[in-house]
Amino acid sequence: MNKSIAVDGPAGAGKSTIAKRVAQNIGYIYVDTGAMYRAIALYVLRNKIDYNDELKVGENINEINVTLDYVDNTQIVLLNGENVNDYIRTSEVSNVTSKIATYAAVREKLLDLQRNLAVEKKVIMDGRDIGTNVLPDAFLKIYLTATPEARADRRYKELVEKGEDCNYDTILKDIIARDNQDMNREIAPLKQAQDAVLVDSSNMGIEEVTDTLVNIYKEKESL
Ligand code: DC
Repeated sequence: MNKSIAVDGPAGAGKSTIAKRVAQNIGYIYVDTGAMYRAIALYVLRNKIDYNDELKVGENINEINVTLDYVDNTQIVLLNGENVNDYIRTSEVSNVTSKIATYAAVREKLLDLQRNLAVEKKVIMDGRDIGTNVLPDAFLKIYLTATPEARADRRYKELVEKGEDCNYDTILKDIIARDNQDMNREIAPLKQAQDAVLVDSSNMGIEEVTDTLVNIYKEKESL
């Protein structure tokens, strides 16, 4: 039986931080599927393709090659062979990613790639449609969420710590806009899979959420 774990939820719920820690704890490989969508958005931006034009993005899709590599347990995203990890986390890339992730050509391109990763290895994969669409037979599905305010507050603190100029209200507005786009798109929208375990991290710290997930996994494993 495939032992993969799906972690879905809205932007800023802490999926990547938590999934990375859980992976280390239980000996799984962490796969960040958002980074793959982000790499495509970066290509679109760099090549000045109109990201609002679905047809144009689709016409260019075969020029885009996204692959993953792992160095010291860290996922590296390669865009046509170039490590783009340092360029895919800007708010501009985030907003464009949410848009291009609604396009069928983009989603089709990444679907097989993501499924193949789970065939080869035991993975904990985070995204928006992993439990509902990419790995419907996953061993364990988690829907990790938090209120928009809690997520905006975390993001704000993260940016302040990095010394970046930012505004809480703008961050909250961006988060709500991304939620809307991710939850209301036609193809593979973000939603909790029927058989997913809901974890609301609004009032929980990183350690507590990690322990909660590890315990859910161990309990399931012992059945
Ligand atoms: O998890 P993230 O914030 O890096 O994701 C960036 C965007 O990619 C997000 O707005 C939704 C999209 N995405 C998606 O549609 N499906 C996935 N499996 C992962 C991400």
